[in-house]
Amino acid sequence: MMRKLFLLGTSLFWLLILTLWFQAGHAPPARTEVAMPVETTYTLAEVSQHSLESDCWMAIDGQVYDLTAYLPEHPSKPSIILPWCGQEASEAYRTKTKGRTHSPAADQLLLGYRIGPLQKDSR
Ligand code: HEM
Repeated sequence: MMRKLFLLGTSLFWLLILTLWFQAGHAPPARTEVAMPVETTYTLAEVSQHSLESDCWMAIDGQVYDLTAYLPEHPSKPSIILPWCGQEASEAYRTKTKGRTHSPAADQLLLGYRIGPLQKDSR
């Protein structure tokens, strides 16, 4: 009687081990791919819809920036920067329209206003 129980117990034990082992082998592979957030891209046509002081986007070197909140902080006269709202403004940003580049601090500041990439070959 005891021997039967013992044999039954051991068989069930090994059956359990085998089942677990088998299942482990057939488990779905661990997810290794990393979900890449897809960024919204913008066209120049979209950028041009934001040409106001109260809603000012610019495309600069392939990225789109919403500079509305920054405009009041900009150290130049508003009339220098406002015409670039809604525009492709890489050249204006690079030269300040005076042949002088912005400082690295300005570049750093700019990064904070990025909303996404400009669509490639966008016009
Ligand atoms: C795209 C059109 C823009 C034009 C035409 C323009 C032009 C100018 C001018 C004339 C000055 C003052 C004179 C000088 O410092 O030489 C200036 C200074 C400055 N601008 Fe702009 N700017 C533009 C956009 C921006 C943007 C988008 C930012 C940053 C978000 C920015 C940040 C600054 C800063 C921080 C200064 C102080 C000087 C420096 O750090 O270079 N500007 N800009």
